[in-house]
Amino acid sequence: MKTSFKRILAIVLSACMMLSLVSCGEEAEVDYLTDLTDQSLTYTLDELYDIETETLYAADYELPALYKYFEGLCNIGVAFTSDQIVDLEDDITKSILKHYRVYTLGNELKPDHVNPSEGEYNFDDADAFVEFGQLTDATLRGHTLVWHSQVPDWWFKADPSDESSLEDCLANGTLATSDQLIERMQEYITTVVTRYADTIDIWDVCNEVLNDSGTGVRGINDSSYWSYIIGDLDGDGYSDDYIQIAFEAARAANEDAVLMINDYNMEWSSAKCQQMYNLVLRMFEKGVRIDGVGFQSHIELDCNVETYRQNLELIASLSDLYDEYFPEYAGNFRITITELDMDMFIGSNSDGGYYVWSDEEFEQQAEKYAELIDMFLDFADEGVIDTIIFWGTDDENSWLNSTPKIRRNASLLFDRDLSVKPCFYSIAEAALTHVSG
Ligand code: GLA
Repeated sequence: MKTSFKRILAIVLSACMMLSLVSCGEEAEVDYLTDLTDQSLTYTLDELYDIETETLYAADYELPALYKYFEGLCNIGVAFTSDQIVDLEDDITKSILKHYRVYTLGNELKPDHVNPSEGEYNFDDADAFVEFGQLTDATLRGHTLVWHSQVPDWWFKADPSDESSLEDCLANGTLATSDQLIERMQEYITTVVTRYADTIDIWDVCNEVLNDSGTGVRGINDSSYWSYIIGDLDGDGYSDDYIQIAFEAARAANEDAVLMINDYNMEWSSAKCQQMYNLVLRMFEKGVRIDGVGFQSHIELDCNVETYRQNLELIASLSDLYDEYFPEYAGNFRITITELDMDMFIGSNSDGGYYVWSDEEFEQQAEKYAELIDMFLDFADEGVIDTIIFWGTDDENSWLNSTPKIRRNASLLFDRDLSVKPCFYSIAEAALTHVSG
């Protein structure tokens, strides 16, 4: 990884050198950092319809940059992993730099990656990602500090070197104490957030803290040890104090960061959304400033856009409360669409295998994406949704090819060969034709 990154820097340097040659009258070269896209493109509907008739690929110079369609509306981002940063000749690397201006670290800042054993911190991949982001001044999203998944088991054990499973520790009474877990969490958050205080502006402090039944915070029966071990410290009847402690530690490490809470299924589960509302409000009441809610938005092709809109409205209504509780920061509360992709199989149990999608099915996907984006932009108009982030660079590089089972999925804007899918154009068109209100 480090080697690849050094290669990128070498290429960047040579690109800069080429630019200076240009100014000396030599043959013009493309500066990949600032000019991955034909600058004469006008981002009009007519031009979009023209371009749509060509066969283009994600990194093609003639293809407009997606984020440009959204200028003045909202930011457009992508999640990827540091192994996708190859060099500036690589099409995936180029497509990231070209289309998106917000980058989420896909795996590099998950605690099992960073802190696999006591006293061991591994920042190589996160550092490389961050340096890459700085090439284009992208906004970086740190993902994620506290989660029940991709977290090292040792955090939850009384003795970090205990090799028994967490289930056995639970049965044997050898789980960590509340104090132990709090101390480990605080040390971790302080170390990580402080390290990136100048480079990572936004953190998903807590991920997926709500249970699937829509009744509240995830507990021991929902594969999370957090609330079970740390418990209800202030006796208010809610075992959500670990969330408060996590936000307080992150805030202490970076006063200016945007600190968010992120969860899934909120687009369709109004019960879960209500729990998110209740939780964030409880935190406000305790003086904990949560700057926004992330709707992961791993949606399916049949996503109900109206239900989604109503659920967004509920969370958007926290904005006024945020202003009341934290007047100094009024206007800062936001919703981010953090992990958008569209499963082309409806229902997790349907088969799929190596399904080949028809043009009609890709058109259906394009229509659904356009409908959603138009709805998101209504919230962007009100200053509530600030950013839309796609979870993955292309259909080959999507978690949906292996979850919930191995089957070829087609959830993103570029096909496996990076050819541009109809939904890229429909999303661009939705941005161009969006009418406020
Ligand atoms: C969740 C997590 C992400 C990622 C995706 C699947 O949504 O928040 O970090 O693991 O699942 O790739």
